[in-house]
Amino acid sequence: MSKISSNTQLPQSSFLMMTCQCGTERFLKQEVLERYHDLRFSYSRLGFVTFKTTQFYNTSRVQKILTIFSRYCGLSLGRVQGNDSATMLTQVWQFAENLPIDRVHVFPRDSAVPGEKEFEPQLTPECFEIHKLLTQAQRKLAVGNDYPLFPAEKKELILDVLLISQNEWWVGCHVADTWRSRQPGGIVHISRPIDAVSRAYLKFEEALRWSEIPVKTDSHWLDIGAAPGGASQALLARGANVIGIDPAEVSPIILKCPNFTYLRGRLNQAKRTQLRKVKFIISDMNVAPNYTLDVLEDCILNRATDIRGLLFTLKLVRWELITDIPAVLNRIKSWGFETILAKQMQFNRQEIMVAARK
Ligand SMILES: C[S@@+](CC[C@H](N)C(=O)[O-])C[C@H]1O[C@@H](n2cnc3c(N)ncnc32)[C@H](O)[C@@H]1O
Repeated sequence: MSKISSNTQLPQSSFLMMTCQCGTERFLKQEVLERYHDLRFSYSRLGFVTFKTTQFYNTSRVQKILTIFSRYCGLSLGRVQGNDSATMLTQVWQFAENLPIDRVHVFPRDSAVPGEKEFEPQLTPECFEIHKLLTQAQRKLAVGNDYPLFPAEKKELILDVLLISQNEWWVGCHVADTWRSRQPGGIVHISRPIDAVSRAYLKFEEALRWSEIPVKTDSHWLDIGAAPGGASQALLARGANVIGIDPAEVSPIILKCPNFTYLRGRLNQAKRTQLRKVKFIISDMNVAPNYTLDVLEDCILNRATDIRGLLFTLKLVRWELITDIPAVLNRIKSWGFETILAKQMQFNRQEIMVAARK
């Protein structure tokens, strides 16, 4: 049960802090400054950006900030620096004095681009150690609220400790609300199963949870650009029926799944009658955004299909394509989708994920 109620004085600060994929700091900065005119850039390091507000923000206002490139977004309460972790731990709690904290999240910034140098965003052993010391230090958190990987409940007030380095931590807070904001540092704990046929499994496992598009048993999905089959695997594991289209070869592990149908080739070679039952599309084609949109449009606007939901990667083959994102979202809207979300997943590389629902 959250300690935040309608009478609670919400924490406030004139600084915000955000994390993002290494190398996307400038895009995060750009989108925030374009959209929120009362925010000024303050400070950044790889994977970390802070902003100063011209007026105080409280946690409720932070919840309303929408960005594509931030993974974590919270109020910044201050920075702790030193060589002695015991003193640093005490200082963390000093920032949180008088705050009705429900849970503590300790997380790192990214140290490399996801998928490179065997790096994937995740909580490190150092995070677990500091989390343990922090939760033991001063406060009694509710039973179950002291587990470092556990997502928060909606409305809980989270004390966030972002480890920039061993000697520099940034302390913040936020109220858990969306799926992403409930994960520690916005990082979901997903390990790649031993039989996952591609890294795309991780990307779509994360994206399905983030988008909250329900994957019902026996629902019918189309996977465009399916080979070798990691994304289909995430759907098949949920009991969905999947038609996978791709000119490239799909893994035998996927081909032997009874709920998987393989159509070898491109979408324009498939007969529309074969897609009659399909209600949802996932897509992960390694092509430029306009080509992806043309392929999707061809399927969605066809009278033989009735597509209710869509989840796909938009490959930013050149980073400058970021400026086209608003036009991309408008085009999807023109297909009749009401809810459209765009976000860079923790497992995305030079791409973002788009989800749309009717
Ligand atoms: C990044 S891979 C897909 C990974 C796959 N989603 C997975 O989960 O393992 C991109 C795939 O898109 C396919 N592709 C590109 N254009 C396509 C099209 N028009 N129709 C179907 N597949 C396409 C490529 O052949 C390639 O296999």
